Amino acid sequence: MLIRTRRGWELPESRATSEDVFLNRRAFLAGGASIAAIAGGVDPAAAQWFSSSQPNMARKPDPTDDLYPAKRNEAFSLDRPLTEEVTAAGYNNYYEFGPSKNIWKQAESKKTRPWTIKVDGLVEKPFEIGVDDLIRRSQLEERLYRFRCVEAWSMAVPWTGFTLKSFLDIAKPTSGAKYVRFETFMDPQMAPGQRQSWYPWPYVEGVTMAEAQNELPLLVTGAYGKPLRNQFGAPIRLILPWKYGFKSIKAITRISFTAERPKSYWEQLQSAEYGFWANVNPEVAHPRWSQATEQVIGTQQRVPTLPFNGYGAEVAHLYKGLEKERLFV
Ligand code: MTE
Repeated sequence: MLIRTRRGWELPESRATSEDVFLNRRAFLAGGASIAAIAGGVDPAAAQWFSSSQPNMARKPDPTDDLYPAKRNEAFSLDRPLTEEVTAAGYNNYYEFGPSKNIWKQAESKKTRPWTIKVDGLVEKPFEIGVDDLIRRSQLEERLYRFRCVEAWSMAVPWTGFTLKSFLDIAKPTSGAKYVRFETFMDPQMAPGQRQSWYPWPYVEGVTMAEAQNELPLLVTGAYGKPLRNQFGAPIRLILPWKYGFKSIKAITRISFTAERPKSYWEQLQSAEYGFWANVNPEVAHPRWSQATEQVIGTQQRVPTLPFNGYGAEVAHLYKGLEKERLFV
């Protein structure tokens, strides 16, 4: 007989629909409510987050400290307040360090130097580059972006990085390249989640070349005016603000240019629920919950979700002629 137990990636509906109950931890604690009382009504991962201490906001020196804060690009403004740093730093998805939101402590064990990125596939000449070398060769800027997770929560973060588009000038893909494939580090000794063999490690994501050439995708190396914290995906991650957050891969060690569409981590796990395109669309529900609204973390607010997370003017044209694709899953 098949006994079915819920695995880490199988998000219970309660996490997607009633996050207003548990996201505002500080307001909740200030209200004097008992952790045990509310934890009974939500799933164990959420309860674990409640019972955790706040993230350690101290930082170790970083070899690129002198580059921060970078100049803000004022072209990217927000329709909502920024999420407080302590809130964003204490509520993460980083399965290499466990399936809960409360992984900041485990992520402290991640070693982020030396860090090399391999660039290969359909490029003029494959190469490896140290992350500090890459960061210093690139034009860092700060952008305020909305971020929408597939689990129906959202935040607004000041990311620092350089455009993926500018990286293409360094990588030099050939004309045969149709996709860019990103891969996260693989080190089960350092990352306890990677010892769980039912997950298809390493974490992989991908975009089309047309998406990569757009102005929005950032290779992010910092947040809140400082080099990236480990839990945010240090030392370098992708941010694609018009797509569900799982596309924004953390801790990249390899960037490959391919003719074939890469199959991403979540697509390998559950392709019915998580696809290649994953563009935000409030009108297309996830198979198990609505995407019409989102819980703004750190607040009591649930707000309407915007098509392409509010970035339609910049990216909607990329999907003309692709209407037969599952663009919003
Ligand atoms: N990248 C890696 N390598 N591993 C992950 O588990 N989680 C994804 C994405 N990138 C993930 C990842 C998901 S599901 C989300 S919502 C965002 O990272 C979360 O980013 P944040 O923790 O900075 O909010």
